[in-house]
Amino acid sequence: MMARPVLIDTDTGVDDALALILALRSRELSVKAITTVAGNVEVGKCTRNALAILHLLGVADKPAVSEGAQKPLCRPLFRAPEVHGTDGLGNARRYILASSTPRMCEQSAAKTIVDHCRSFGNKLVIVALGPLTNLALAWKKNPEAMMKVGRIISMGGAFRVPGNTGPVAEFNYYVDPEAAHLLLNSGLRITIVPLDVTEQIVLMRKELEYRAARRAGRVAKAILRFTKSYMKYHEMTEGFNGGYLHDPLAVAVAIQPDLVQTTRVHVDIETLGRYTRGMSLADFKNKLKRGKPTVEVASKVDRERFLRLFHERIWE
Ligand code: RIB
Ligand code: CA
Repeated sequence: MMARPVLIDTDTGVDDALALILALRSRELSVKAITTVAGNVEVGKCTRNALAILHLLGVADKPAVSEGAQKPLCRPLFRAPEVHGTDGLGNARRYILASSTPRMCEQSAAKTIVDHCRSFGNKLVIVALGPLTNLALAWKKNPEAMMKVGRIISMGGAFRVPGNTGPVAEFNYYVDPEAAHLLLNSGLRITIVPLDVTEQIVLMRKELEYRAARRAGRVAKAILRFTKSYMKYHEMTEGFNGGYLHDPLAVAVAIQPDLVQTTRVHVDIETLGRYTRGMSLADFKNKLKRGKPTVEVASKVDRERFLRLFHERIWE
């Protein structure tokens, strides 16, 4: 079976790093490029984190890493260092990053995205793990090329559950609501993997330590290190010593799309609300009588099958 060409756009935080390891260790995917976007932390740190994960895995045919937007389309950057650490990798990047780490490529993320849409067309899957700023800039640059993409899988949104950034918004869509609004109304084929499903999947610290203890490799040690503070944050704020696997689930949907059940529905993102910035609204009853939607929202997940896939791959 031919591996699926994939471009991953990431605001490389802790769960993004786990998602990159899952993607790079899954033979169903061929990661052609990684683009970085400001979100969890500043974009330069996201780039260094992505390069650090590539260095950690020592992957042979390293995908190019292109740095992208330093801030959302029209707002100041809102970050989450309290969740992912000041460096974005649980303040553990220094244990992973070697001075000889491969350099990022000079081309902008938006151009890399457009070029890959042109080259791979409807075979390409873009997995967006952060705010959608880079994809919106690529759309503005060349909408015809972007329309060729097979599917965009976006980790973002919260529909029937509370937000994680304020009462109603999910972080990625809170950071750049204008980018999300533009893309979700563009006609692009987008699958949203929202908190409704990602928060059903928690990786507990004890299980992580148990599984890592059975492996001697440096990848296992690094995963233990860079997830520690992410899990501590959840212990302090949500009462469990563990972490949500938001971004790994988005990557897993690119590997096995039937891991989630989806509903095709019009989705809009609040950009003007004083208390509802970034809120994702699905018109499940088509009250606005709009045409055929091109957006699918994941509403159910096969939790056990996802966790089997996740542990089978990342500890390789
Ligand atoms: O809301 C969770 C999402 O926001 C994840 O992608 C996390 O990495 C942050 O980007
Ligand atoms: Ca992310």
